[in-house]
Amino acid sequence: MGLTLTEKILKNHIVDGEFKKGTEIGIRIDQTLTQDATGTMAYLEFEAMGIPRVKTERSVAYIDHNTLQSGFENADDHRFIGSVAKKHGIYFSRPGNGICHQVHLERFGVPGKTLIGSDSHTPTGGGIGMLAIGAGGLDVAVAMGGGAYYITYPNIVKVNLTGKLSPWTAAKDVILEVLKRMSVKGGVGKVIEYCGEGVKTLSVPERATITNMGAELGATTSVFPSDEITKAFLKAQKREDVWVPLSADDDAVYDEVIDIDLSQVEPYAACPHMPDNVKPISELGDMKIDQVCIGSCTNSSYQDMMKVAYILKGKTVHPDVSLSIAPGSKQVLNMLAENGALGDMIDAGARILESACGPCIGMGQSPNSGGISLRTFNRNFEGRSGTKDGQIYLVSPETAAVSAISGVLTDPRTLGEMPEIKMPDEFKINDNMIEPPAPVEEMDSVEILRGPNIKPYPETAPLQDELECPCSLKVGDNITTDHIMPAGAKILPLRSNIPKISEHCFTVCDETFPKRAKELGQSIIVGGANYGQGSSREHAALAPLYLGVKIVLVKSFARIHRSNLINAGILPLTFANEADYDKISQGDILCASGLIEAVKNGEDIVIENKTTGDKIKCRSDLSGRAKEIMLAGGLLDFTREALAK
Ligand code: F3S
Repeated sequence: MGLTLTEKILKNHIVDGEFKKGTEIGIRIDQTLTQDATGTMAYLEFEAMGIPRVKTERSVAYIDHNTLQSGFENADDHRFIGSVAKKHGIYFSRPGNGICHQVHLERFGVPGKTLIGSDSHTPTGGGIGMLAIGAGGLDVAVAMGGGAYYITYPNIVKVNLTGKLSPWTAAKDVILEVLKRMSVKGGVGKVIEYCGEGVKTLSVPERATITNMGAELGATTSVFPSDEITKAFLKAQKREDVWVPLSADDDAVYDEVIDIDLSQVEPYAACPHMPDNVKPISELGDMKIDQVCIGSCTNSSYQDMMKVAYILKGKTVHPDVSLSIAPGSKQVLNMLAENGALGDMIDAGARILESACGPCIGMGQSPNSGGISLRTFNRNFEGRSGTKDGQIYLVSPETAAVSAISGVLTDPRTLGEMPEIKMPDEFKINDNMIEPPAPVEEMDSVEILRGPNIKPYPETAPLQDELECPCSLKVGDNITTDHIMPAGAKILPLRSNIPKISEHCFTVCDETFPKRAKELGQSIIVGGANYGQGSSREHAALAPLYLGVKIVLVKSFARIHRSNLINAGILPLTFANEADYDKISQGDILCASGLIEAVKNGEDIVIENKTTGDKIKCRSDLSGRAKEIMLAGGLLDFTREALAK
């Protein structure tokens, strides 16, 4: 029986466990990436392990999230990360060099290699044929130290692409089509593998748009084959030497098959407030818009930008619309500047932003109250834009640009004939904003620069056998990591300061939560289905840890957040019977005993609601390794213990 592309990469990297569906396997990690918002903590964790130099083939620290400098905090974090990188063998991509996933694709991605990144859109690397997975910062720290990364052997979905996109329909519309069909929960536990004749019609950046937003399916990752198009992209980046061909065997067997005829895909928008709330633009009508933001790790490639520049050339942005554009990397920005496309954008009235995440992470460009904003990004959760009642529609760069001119949501197919916008034969290469690590013989003399905003990892303790404490918070379904640990310009600079950032934990849902939880000392959070969906931010686990949360009991979890809770030493439990969710109210006193044995043996845990007398059966469903991590009090303690042996 032949192998899928995913299986081939996994087989080359498995170091622990059995090559069998449903089992937990440990894989060797070739590359890691961090961004600054999660990176400071990942490097504090790496330091805490006491390993002098990273053991990966390539590790890169990017600064792209917290680039506003209205106080000392972000600047201090950047300096800290830069100095840690230099000392410990990590490449450092300076602020302004671009968004981590865009730059990684351009300058570091290698087909067939494994990559984990402390950012949920790390699967962007699947566009170049990597098995690229979003993980918690601590997982990345462990991988940098040479440890394996553990995943459940995934189900593999084949998306069979046929045909060719019609003019002005984009790769973004393809992933919106997949989201429409599979939903934000449809990819959980799965790798989405793209195959078929239609693959050949998509460039590497287009493929990367699709794998990037596969994160919104909840998928472990998404991956494209590595073919002649991949080779041409690498050649244009002067990295042809790293190319290898990679594809599934003809007789590979998949768990699920989805057929998409690219010629039938039409321009879509993901409507507020979910990436899978997808509707055809043609059905949404002439909706008046207030803002358009083009950029992000989903849609900021050279090809995207050239299409936008073509649409804007010689036109004027509608007077009621604010248009901002953030090219994804220094390379893209530089090429646009040289070929005149940047001038066309500026001339049309676009506001050019730094090559960074910017508005995607709430760093500026929040829409006006109740404002309608078209964004080429990947997430439109309520409040993420920085405006609570902002109405965010996720669209392709083509739809965004044409709508910015008309002032209403416009189907780009009305533009008529489309010129061929080709990938360049050569990209402009100048890596002077990527600092290499210090040579081994000099690393001891590199000083780590630590500002006052850099605080150590919160205190942890081994799993308690008995617990009696209140339910400090009860929340509903689809709680995102943005609800748990909001982002935004005021909060993000506190990422390396857990005591301070914890003051904002869950304040979107309940302003009094942080103070209440801190005063209680120990507590349990209760939630509904798909708890923790969204980003990989481990602060959504570290802030509750600091506030004394011991158990999170929900109907179901999003994958990365559940692992982040385990890594932080917070016990993630699910209701054996979902209806029992109604048997707990906020403030009820909950009691659990025999936790150590129950976790060790994988037995059900009974939580007694002392306030009502109800007995609630819960499940931990922890794998062998996760059990050990939980018992040790989290991954940091587990790794320290393992290193000491
Ligand atoms: Fe940055 Fe937004 Fe991507 S925050 S990494 S551009 S999802």
